[in-house]
Amino acid sequence: MHQVQAVVAHAKGEPVGIETINVPDPGPGEALVAVQACGVCHTDLHYREGGINDDFPFLLGHEAAGVVEAVGDDVTSVAPGDFVILNWRAVCGNCRACNRGEPWYCFATHNATQKMTLADGTELSPALGIGAFAEKTLVAAGQCTKVDASARPAAVGLLGCGVMAGLGAAINTGNVSRGKTVAVIGCGGVGSAAIAGSVLAGADTVIAVDVDDRKLEGARRMGATHTINSANADPVTGIQELTGGNGADVVIDAVGRPETWKQAFYARDLAGTVVLVGVPTPEMMLPDIPLIDVFGRGGALKSSWYGDCLPSRDFPMLVSLYRQGRLDLDAFVSEEIGLDDVEAAFDKMHHGDVLRSVVIL
Ligand SMILES: NC(=O)c1ccc[n+]([C@@H]2O[C@H](COP(=O)([O-])OP(=O)(O)OC[C@H]3O[C@@H](n4cnc5c(N)ncnc54)[C@H](O)[C@@H]3O)[C@@H](O)[C@H]2O)c1
Ligand SMILES: [Zn+2]
Ligand SMILES: [Zn+2]
Repeated sequence: MHQVQAVVAHAKGEPVGIETINVPDPGPGEALVAVQACGVCHTDLHYREGGINDDFPFLLGHEAAGVVEAVGDDVTSVAPGDFVILNWRAVCGNCRACNRGEPWYCFATHNATQKMTLADGTELSPALGIGAFAEKTLVAAGQCTKVDASARPAAVGLLGCGVMAGLGAAINTGNVSRGKTVAVIGCGGVGSAAIAGSVLAGADTVIAVDVDDRKLEGARRMGATHTINSANADPVTGIQELTGGNGADVVIDAVGRPETWKQAFYARDLAGTVVLVGVPTPEMMLPDIPLIDVFGRGGALKSSWYGDCLPSRDFPMLVSLYRQGRLDLDAFVSEEIGLDDVEAAFDKMHHGDVLRSVVIL
């Protein structure tokens, strides 16, 4: 058993704090990971706000890279010393999605069996089954994806959640390819990654939409060809004007609100695709759209869970592109912070000051 420092959310809406927690030695199918870097994702804030479920206390953090310290007796996929990115899609190989050859939808992903606890024995709920704002964390071995050890942990750890979600929303879910026109609504960490992914895939026109000019400047640096501030201008008209009056082939909603989804719906060309990657809250309803418009405009209305990624396939490939200078993951790291700065990082995220604050351990 290991006693380490970690960031815990005790109750809905209350500031997070640092605690000493107990982390068991790995049993069958498990791995103990010494965390090196973990990004602060909007989803951690959703947990703290009680927006995911009520299973407090939460051990936050889930966008991480580190080194495997020990593994359970039966584990062969990773070994002590391996540099890994943690993922929340350890595919089971047996569910109906896996059995039909679509493991990126796996409906029965693995987490560690043993529980990490507070000093008094209270069981912790690790965010997305990871819990990596901690010096060490216990995960299922399948949650560890081995990648090139020379990569910067703060940058490649972001592939563990938000950056993969955005890249995959474009490349995997949206099938963005050479020559396509794309619009991305919301240019935080996830939307900016969708822009970078669209550029990587060879999109011809990439339109960034946000209500914050600082985010639009960042989007330009990620490769957006045009920007629209939707606080001042109608994004549907703007996107149509920039695409020959037609609308974009793929529109990605990286905000996740009824009004942004409606913009995405109408800003898309006939037979185009809408990808919802931003996560709505439970009380939000589908916007009022005549059903004849759904029929008449054709195409596909899709949601993207974790960018429909397959970590074993996508993480090593994206780390390779990063190392070749073709995918600028460093551009997502706005600041490196300590474990005790997570609450301040939530504030900066809320005010739009950062793409990603990354805790360095
Ligand atoms: N689908 C997945 O698997 C997955 C994974 C990770 C995160 N997410 C979700 O993606 C969303 C974005 O995450 P993030 O980390 O990029 O958040 P973020 O807070 O960094 O970025 C949100 C951006 O949207 C902009 N915005 C807000 N309202 C807007 C509006 N009405 N129109 C245009 N732009 C608007 C903000 O200015 C900001 O730039 C969150 O809902 C998060 O929970 C989804
Ligand atoms: Zn499965
Ligand atoms: Zn996340």
